[in-house]
Amino acid sequence: MDVVELGEAHCDALLRFFRSLPEEDLTFIEEQVTDPDVVRSWASGGGSARRFVTVDGDDPGGDVAGYVAIRRLTGWSSHVGEVRLVVSPARRGSGLGRALARHALVTAVGDGLTKLVVEVVAEQGSALALFTGLGFTGEALLRDHVRDREGQLRDLMVLAHHVDETWSGMATVGLDEALGQDLS
Ligand SMILES: CC(C)(COP(=O)(O)OP(=O)(O)OC[C@H]1O[C@@H](n2cnc3c(N)ncnc32)[C@H](O)[C@@H]1OP(=O)(O)O)[C@@H](O)C(=O)NCCC(=O)NCCS
Repeated sequence: MDVVELGEAHCDALLRFFRSLPEEDLTFIEEQVTDPDVVRSWASGGGSARRFVTVDGDDPGGDVAGYVAIRRLTGWSSHVGEVRLVVSPARRGSGLGRALARHALVTAVGDGLTKLVVEVVAEQGSALALFTGLGFTGEALLRDHVRDREGQLRDLMVLAHHVDETWSGMATVGLDEALGQDLS
């Protein structure tokens, strides 16, 4: 399944996707993703983020199975990108999350970002496995930072990928090929 940059043709399918997600998954995205005006403004190039989706079949209006965004921070952190990733619950465990995260990393490096961060709930094994496999490491642990739907407090981990430090590591996961250059 191809990863494609979000365009106008994907808006309705992306809204359907967000509206079908359990509430706890929506908290990972933070923006008002079930608001049609918000999603349409993204597709028409609004904001400072790059956004990508995977779509079933060849029709751009087909169902969305996964979404990733890289939002460039501003001011003195304008070299940093924040990643938001979500895959349809029905499609998890088949490599889609990894493909989207890898695409985000390649895009961010291509755009000149030198650091990427992602927030992951500490117990979320799949998200931790996915991002550490792409060279992210734990940079901060925020204790009791998230309140889940049952009201339980959970720890939040900030994982970071430093592009310079992990340059040679990136070559080992094949990102040099994706970027079309030798990074080692
Ligand atoms: C995190 C998430 C994107 C993973 O998507 P996915 O399509 O299931 O991921 P993949 O199939 O590519 O699996 C990624 C890795 O997690 C592992 N994994 C998958 N399901 C797992 C599970 N239930 N427990 C532990 N590890 C698991 C896989 O083995 C894989 O590791 P590998 O590549 O070394 O084999 C998805 O669970 C999700 O949308 N979660 C809610 C939102 C979220 O937490 N986003 C991350 C922070 S923004």
